[in-house]
Amino acid sequence: MNIPMVDLKQQYNQLKSEIDSAVMSVLDSAHFILGPNVKALASEIAEYCNVSHAIPVASGTDALHLALLACGIGPGDEVITTPFTFIATAEAISYTGAKPVFIDIEKSSFNIDINQIEAAITPQTRAIAAVHLFGRPANLDALTELCRRHDLKLIEDCAQSFGASYHGRMTGSFGDAGCFSFYPSKNLGAYGDAGMVITNDDAIAERIRVLHNHGSDAPYRHSVIGYNSRLDEIQAAILRIKFKYIDEFNNARRENARRYGERLANSGIAIPSEQENSIHVYHQYTIRSDRRDAIHEALKAADIASAIFYPIPLHQQSVYRNDYMDLSLPIAEQAAQQVLSLPMYPGLSTAQIDQVCDVILNT
Ligand SMILES: Cc1ncc(COP(=O)(O)O)c(C=O)c1O
Repeated sequence: MNIPMVDLKQQYNQLKSEIDSAVMSVLDSAHFILGPNVKALASEIAEYCNVSHAIPVASGTDALHLALLACGIGPGDEVITTPFTFIATAEAISYTGAKPVFIDIEKSSFNIDINQIEAAITPQTRAIAAVHLFGRPANLDALTELCRRHDLKLIEDCAQSFGASYHGRMTGSFGDAGCFSFYPSKNLGAYGDAGMVITNDDAIAERIRVLHNHGSDAPYRHSVIGYNSRLDEIQAAILRIKFKYIDEFNNARRENARRYGERLANSGIAIPSEQENSIHVYHQYTIRSDRRDAIHEALKAADIASAIFYPIPLHQQSVYRNDYMDLSLPIAEQAAQQVLSLPMYPGLSTAQIDQVCDVILNT
């Protein structure tokens, strides 16, 4: 592609000498698991997010799964969530034996519709798993208030929102647990799978520490059946280098979004909006239009990438649809027909953005 969705090679070339030397020093140390980089990354990110605990794990999916388990979610429980997200959000709920209860989304933000949550609460509801989709913080004031009033746990899926903030506080630091993915294309991306849970709750942190390392609370002492979900030293060393630049990278994404917004304003295409007092980090720049398929094709013909996140809401996916036959979530279903994510990464140039917008405006 002339203009790709993300350019990981460009970012690697920019940081090559630092990353290569960090990786080489892990190889030289021969300390590959639970070493100094994992520990340092945890304390750097805990400080950045202003939380008391950060537990590095093997992926964002594991972060969600272990956070739900540590919050005591299990068979017979219900967890309210959004149908308009990557499957991992719901998958993690299903792993615990609990049932995902899908609520429709807000048209303007693509995030869970706060106004529809209360009607879905039953005696089995134990938690809300909210996603800050595309890097835009969900309505955390309303979510924390709802959870407090109904005695529910709040799990924040921050896979797409590293560095995003709401009223001056980082996403992930509001709920009982915040779950990050460091999948390579994420705003903070490793060179393989990686993730992290953050929390201010000592007991939840301790449970996740035990669960992520074979249920072990001391060497070769196992108190529960756990998992092998440790982040490795090489990934942690790479993430520590990239973490130094995360604000710069997120600001570049925001600047790119500003340029897209300038060019696409008044075009009849719905562009992402921002809430007052919150910082959107544009993991994706997602437009919506009735002419989505024509725009997608025109971009492809111009050798420009674009992607549909997400083409099928989760309640209609074949893995779930038999359980949600009668469920209609019109806003999410319509979004799936209209959304299109445009190229977005820190090194995207103004000239490239203009090229993308020229094609869209001429379609
Ligand atoms: C919203 C969301 N949740 C969860 C995940 C899962 O993260 P991972 O791929 O690191 O397991 C992802 C990304 O892949 C995601 O976008």
